[in-house]
Amino acid sequence: MITLYQLSKSFNGKKVLDNLNMRFKERRITVIIGRSGGGKSVMLKHIIGLIKPDSGRVLIDGIDMNTLKKKELNEIRKKFGMVFQDGALFDSLSVFENVAFPLRQHLNLPEEDIRYKVYSILNDVGLNGHESKMPSEISGGMRKRVAVARALILNPEIMLFDEPTTGLDPIMSDVINNLVVSMHDKFKFTGIIISHDIKGAYKTGDEIAMLYNGKIIEVGTPEEFKDSKNPIINQFVSGSMNGPIIL
Ligand SMILES: Nc1ncnc2c1ncn2[C@@H]1O[C@H](COP(=O)(O)OP(=O)(O)O)[C@@H](O)[C@H]1O
Ligand SMILES: [Mg+2]
Repeated sequence: MITLYQLSKSFNGKKVLDNLNMRFKERRITVIIGRSGGGKSVMLKHIIGLIKPDSGRVLIDGIDMNTLKKKELNEIRKKFGMVFQDGALFDSLSVFENVAFPLRQHLNLPEEDIRYKVYSILNDVGLNGHESKMPSEISGGMRKRVAVARALILNPEIMLFDEPTTGLDPIMSDVINNLVVSMHDKFKFTGIIISHDIKGAYKTGDEIAMLYNGKIIEVGTPEEFKDSKNPIINQFVSGSMNGPIIL
């Protein structure tokens, strides 16, 4: 359903994606790992059409994102839910209104249906009772839950998470990783998670893919990653400064 074909992108003469190929399995969770500044967010932004490639293609259900007009792109974006790295909540809106926002934007529902949907998803992510709070009044972990609820509210086929646990302590990271897995069990989306947390990747990923030097150099199950013969994977997984990765 999501295919990246010979994708290349440079910024200021620096190649960030270099003929990258990848196919994401439908209704599974794929975790993309790789170094900071390695192009993970750039890759994700290509998938939702926020960045256009210099060359290559992003195919969503066989449709080339690059050929779409603005209106068609908006239509296809409804398939996506995205949790941004910083959560990107609206500071001036309550938890309830943050989650209701995509509904108000895209659907013309009666207020009672909006209330029902928002209360239901907030319950799913463990935030019942916090509806009227403002983002500034809740913890970082709770803000992540709001961001997840808002991304899920239109029941998207595809969920993209850009480093959902960065900035959280290890225990809260585990809570959020578990939330992603339980939401996936319930809603069965195709999930793409960007992470540099290998422990979280093992926990949440059906598949793991490593982005290195602008390419996906390996795709496999967590078990296959643990047993990888590739010294680059081994170095990344063990978090060692010694190895083939040039610092
Ligand atoms: N809009 C942009 N303009 C110029 N350079 C960019 C832009 N977006 C990303 N980059 C550069 O591309 C590289 C990869 O960035 P990014 O995808 O954010 O890395 P990460 O793997 O940490 O998510 C970085 O060197 C970054 O500075
Ligand atoms: Mg990033």
